Amino acid sequence: MKVLITGGSGALGSSLQKVFKGAYFPKHREMDIANPDSVNKALLKYKPDILIHAAALVGIRECEENKKKAWLTNVEGTQNIVNALKRLNNNCYLVYMSTACVFAGENEKYYTENDIPSPKNYYSITKLCGEIVSRQYENTCIIRTNFVPKNRWKYPKAFVDRFGTYLFSDNVAKGIYDVCKKRIKGIVHIVGSKRISMYELALLAGSKNVGKMTMQEYNGPPLTIDMSLSTKRWKKYKIE
Ligand SMILES: NC(=O)c1ccc[n+]([C@@H]2O[C@H](COP(=O)([O-])OP(=O)(O)OC[C@H]3O[C@@H](n4cnc5c(N)ncnc54)[C@H](OP(=O)(O)O)[C@@H]3O)[C@@H](O)[C@H]2O)c1
Repeated sequence: MKVLITGGSGALGSSLQKVFKGAYFPKHREMDIANPDSVNKALLKYKPDILIHAAALVGIRECEENKKKAWLTNVEGTQNIVNALKRLNNNCYLVYMSTACVFAGENEKYYTENDIPSPKNYYSITKLCGEIVSRQYENTCIIRTNFVPKNRWKYPKAFVDRFGTYLFSDNVAKGIYDVCKKRIKGIVHIVGSKRISMYELALLAGSKNVGKMTMQEYNGPPLTIDMSLSTKRWKKYKIE
């Protein structure tokens, strides 16, 4: 079984490296998803049976300030993968990594796979467009989730009034493995069993000195305030 994973150098990618041992993790320069020739070459050479597409431009501010790069990476990048898989024509199973931020973020709504997205910022718009593009390919699973890597909280402060059913990236990688084993198609939410604030998440992630902040102090692109998800199709995971 040949598994190819994009975004291997990223936060989720590092966790996927631990779970999908023996998978092929092409570097950005080897398989630039924004470049159709580069994607075709890599896929035709490797001929994966499973492709986990985790590469993206994820910075909310960066996507807002550089819409062209965000579009070319997150939307056209996904289109390039779909086109190459259709050309490959080996019924490869595609997993497209999406986000809880495709939703508006109403308080304690606990969005399920059946709810209607309504993105708040350009990053989330491109991730939703990527979902729609990935649906042009029949053998696809769209995974929506929300995570941080454990022991690597990178900010001095964390929101006490922004929430989610967060997981650590290692938990999400395990969830992706479980989904791949069953070859689930359509949309699946991989979510934590508990709604917590980002501040609580930072503490759990091992950041002892993190300060508290509120949304009132925030000055930037609109954000999804409550990223809590639920699932009607899959199990919930414990953040650990
Ligand atoms: N972090 C979250 O909270 C979160 C939540 C829900 C969903 N997601 C989704 O999960 C996935 C992984 O997120 P992450 O937080 O692990 O992201 P990340 O740490 O920023 O990593 C992004 C990865 O994408 C690669 N990449 C970017 N542009 C590329 C291109 N043109 N061609 C090839 N590779 C490219 C990067 O490689 P280089 O560094 O070498 O450029 C890096 O390996 C993304 O699809 C994201 O939208 C993230």
